[in-house]
Amino acid sequence: MLNIAPTNINTNPVHFRGYKGNIQVVDNGVKKTCDNYTEFFRNYPTLDFTTNYIIQNFPNGTEISEFGCSTGQTMRSRLILLDEHNKDKKYKATGYDFPPVIEKIKIGLYKLEQYNKNEQILFPEKTPYDFQKTVYNSHVPMIKQKFFEYFSQYNRFIDSKTKIALTPAAVKKLKEEKLLEEKRLAEYKNLHKSNYELFVVPNEQKFDGIADFKVGNIRDIDQIVPQGKSGVVCFQNALYHIMNSRTLEGYEHAKVNEAKDIFKKVNKVLPENGLFVIGSLFFDHLYDCDEEEKTHLIYQDNKQIRVFDSSPVHKALRESGFEPVFFEQTEGMPIRKYNAIHLPSVWKKVSHLK
Ligand SMILES: C[S@@+](CC[C@H](N)C(=O)[O-])C[C@H]1O[C@@H](n2cnc3c(N)ncnc32)[C@H](O)[C@@H]1O
Repeated sequence: MLNIAPTNINTNPVHFRGYKGNIQVVDNGVKKTCDNYTEFFRNYPTLDFTTNYIIQNFPNGTEISEFGCSTGQTMRSRLILLDEHNKDKKYKATGYDFPPVIEKIKIGLYKLEQYNKNEQILFPEKTPYDFQKTVYNSHVPMIKQKFFEYFSQYNRFIDSKTKIALTPAAVKKLKEEKLLEEKRLAEYKNLHKSNYELFVVPNEQKFDGIADFKVGNIRDIDQIVPQGKSGVVCFQNALYHIMNSRTLEGYEHAKVNEAKDIFKKVNKVLPENGLFVIGSLFFDHLYDCDEEEKTHLIYQDNKQIRVFDSSPVHKALRESGFEPVFFEQTEGMPIRKYNAIHLPSVWKKVSHLK
């Protein structure tokens, strides 16, 4: 098997910039380094599909358990897209990750980057790349407007009375949490600043009662999340941390059994028709370009797409009671015969494991 050494998505093409960070953790008794790369509106097609699914299938509300949430960008994006349907706060999300990352969330300062593939839509006067036109369609103005209802621009060095775009509630909270403000300020000073970056802080009154962050390892999901309470479990762009599949050694060594143990627990926790969201990183799906011959065509949203859904990890998901319900194009793969390969980023629970 030709295994394409996964590129360093943190530093490679400019449009892959986003929140970077590495933490040292002990997971399952093993010391390792976890990368926390994330960005707002990452995996937008998957995010859009999941949002519509939640609205249609859980009209009375549900909880979203987002494991491997990193500093919360994807989870907060999910809540922003649900906004119209969440006036009564019936959709609530909890993000889980290792302690150092959850601690970082408390600082509540986010950096947006103009050259980031997804975050660029949040900048003023930006000509959309082709990617945006095809992926976001006409959604950009709505997303942008909603985003700035949930976040305020943070510029500590502009006159606080008139120019800081913080809401009165956010200012009050900042004053109350003096320590937090000091930490945030220190963090802000440390961050590289340029015209291509924007700093934002969450408007806590918008997230109040719908967003929570806790320490939690997905390996313990069955002890953390009550059975049937979460209609959606996410472990997005994170499976490679379990399988150790983003290495030069190849996928033969991938710890699929460890992933399968988790899938079975996710099955136990989800209600029937609940979703398990994993994203479309090729090393999470054990896909490499030698696999092209194993791809096939399907129709999704009236478009014909080429998909790969027969790796050991897909087999493990099926054996754990899941079927794929949405495919997203993977990126960073050399193009050989076919232009675009889509991987199953969202799985639905179709049977309950005993
Ligand atoms: C690359 S980031 C992805 C963040 C976000 N989900 C996204 O899609 O942008 C993967 C995250 O998974 C976390 N992680 C790795 N193993 C985990 C585990 N066993 N339980 C919970 N989180 C884990 C890492 O600490 C890291 O923050």
